[in-house]
Amino acid sequence: MKTLAPWPYPRLAAHRGGGRLAPENTLAAMRTGLAHGFRMAEYDVKLSHDDVPVLLHDDTLDRTTDGRGPAAERTHGELARLDAGSWHSAPYAGEPIPTLRAVARYTQANQIASNVEIKPCPGREAVTGARVTQAVRELWHGAATPPLISSFSEAALAESARVAPELPRALLLEGPLPGDWLARLARHDCIALHMDQRHVDAEVARQVREAGYRLGAWTVNDLARADALRAWQTDLIFTDELALIRPD
Ligand code: G3P
Ligand code: MG
Repeated sequence: MKTLAPWPYPRLAAHRGGGRLAPENTLAAMRTGLAHGFRMAEYDVKLSHDDVPVLLHDDTLDRTTDGRGPAAERTHGELARLDAGSWHSAPYAGEPIPTLRAVARYTQANQIASNVEIKPCPGREAVTGARVTQAVRELWHGAATPPLISSFSEAALAESARVAPELPRALLLEGPLPGDWLARLARHDCIALHMDQRHVDAEVARQVREAGYRLGAWTVNDLARADALRAWQTDLIFTDELALIRPD
């Protein structure tokens, strides 16, 4: 029987760094999470055209920056000049897209644990899994709490497991538990399963934990729902509502 892996992470993570309260995936978001008492941040990482790991959720720049078109076509230098804050609200105008390096420095200096979600641009799954994992390895070298790496992309997870088998990994799932979930977790040497919270109930939580895996649930913005997930011993709960759903 597989035993649960060590879990040095807090139960609550600020989704995209600062939830709804700050522009997602920016250093301002990390500061907001910390100001609200969150000791863990989830954020999305992909590669620029010249293979620099940066924080950005979408494949395209349009929703969260003043740029247009596919992010994968822009170099890091071009991405660094974009405004990733104005879309959220005026006080954040000029907030840049940060590199993973800058966020590694900030989170470690402030004792914030990280969930690095590898979010590859289409067609760049394997290279993104490898480069981001290599960067995590270097940037958190010697850290007491390594980042938890996760991805919906199994091609990215496979590369991540190859590059750094020692780092903790989680498989992200969109829907209900598929028939082959245990095989998929084993294939990518994962310690956790991160599920859409709408598909988690007491029975699913019991099954996952009894199989020896940690369970994460995204994204929980209702307090009663967060309390139910806590009661089912969900190991990691992602929230956008930092003022409502408080760390334990
Ligand atoms: O990692 C949990 C969650 O962030 C996954 O969904 O689309 O918000 O990155 P998304
Ligand atoms: Mg994410």
